[in-house]
Amino acid sequence: MAPLRAIPPDLLTLADYEARAATHLPAASWRHIQEGAGAERTLRDNRTAFDRWRLLPRALADLRDGDTVVELFGQRHIAPILLAPLAYQRIAHPDGERATACASAALGTGMVVSTLSSVTLEDILAAQRSAAQELGSGDAPAWFQLYLQPERAANLALVRRAEAAGYQAIVLTIDAAIKRSSFALPDGVAAANLAGMAPPRQVSMAGGPILFGTPLADAAPRWDDLDWLRQATRLPIILKGMVLGKDLDRALSLGIDGLILSNHGGRVLDGLPSALTMLPGVVDRVAGRIPVLLDGGVRTGTDIVTAIALGARAVLIGRPLFHALAVAGMIGVAHMIHILRTELEMTMAQLGAPRLSSLKREMLVGPAPPR
Ligand code: FNR
Repeated sequence: MAPLRAIPPDLLTLADYEARAATHLPAASWRHIQEGAGAERTLRDNRTAFDRWRLLPRALADLRDGDTVVELFGQRHIAPILLAPLAYQRIAHPDGERATACASAALGTGMVVSTLSSVTLEDILAAQRSAAQELGSGDAPAWFQLYLQPERAANLALVRRAEAAGYQAIVLTIDAAIKRSSFALPDGVAAANLAGMAPPRQVSMAGGPILFGTPLADAAPRWDDLDWLRQATRLPIILKGMVLGKDLDRALSLGIDGLILSNHGGRVLDGLPSALTMLPGVVDRVAGRIPVLLDGGVRTGTDIVTAIALGARAVLIGRPLFHALAVAGMIGVAHMIHILRTELEMTMAQLGAPRLSSLKREMLVGPAPPR
């Protein structure tokens, strides 16, 4: 592991980390992490959606025996916070996903490992386990995020590797079938899990077919792939994306175990609504059958409270993980999680909500008109 870096004392919020990270990263990497698709309307909405809600406190609430514990798929999470799957974390720090795994172990916070991790999925889990052992903490939750590859055999191999390593759930991301990127990975950073497999295909910029009629469109994931995955593994399957309306009914009937309502941090289809905007409707439609998690724009304890009060069971943190890695590696990520957990407990206490189950829709007022 790289030498540890001290945390600058003036970093008190995730916004502070974001501002500082800009000075720790090459311009191209910074742009790659921060950017959204198109005109970035969805990216902006992910933040303004939170800003439009206000909180209504309960007076003189009994805060004894409070906690922030949530159970998901039979696992205990100390707080409703997970580290989102983010590709190629060695862009931000030489230890990459190993640093994230150690912070996850230190703070007992679940992590979701991307198919496109820059350290192998086995080495990431080994790092998390050995850190937990050294620290005497229990194993923190670890889920594997699957990007379906064109070949079934490759998907089966990835799923079996995740099972054998000890991951406890598969997150199937369904919203990035076709994605454009002009970002060139820095030297030495690669998709460690996919060594020997076909490189990702890109939208053609040459004459002739652009997308339709090319192998890229032909290989885009379909419903029968979800059906196949359900048969292929006994691990819980969590869909990640904007799964709405009848699609949601269909996914439930195929036996999914959870949903991460997400627009991929506004990086894929500009014009999607924020997950927070769609959350109440999705939670009503699901009617308690599976847990609904959310990501996109979560930056403070108040944001977490807002999402939970609107029916999310937990949230995932995306870009701030990159910011913290860039500023101070493993210690930065641990500190970032600690900041969020502190803000969460402070907000709950000030609201008079000693447990996540005390956070109700009636404790919010809004949405206020956009500023
Ligand atoms: C992502 N995201 C993502 N999602 C996924 O399922 N697999 C992946 O490999 C990646 N990679 C990735 C890289 C980068 C640079 C970013 C910013 C995002 C999406 C991620 O999991 C999450 O949905 C969003 O980042 C959440 O929004 P915030 O917290 O970044 O606003």
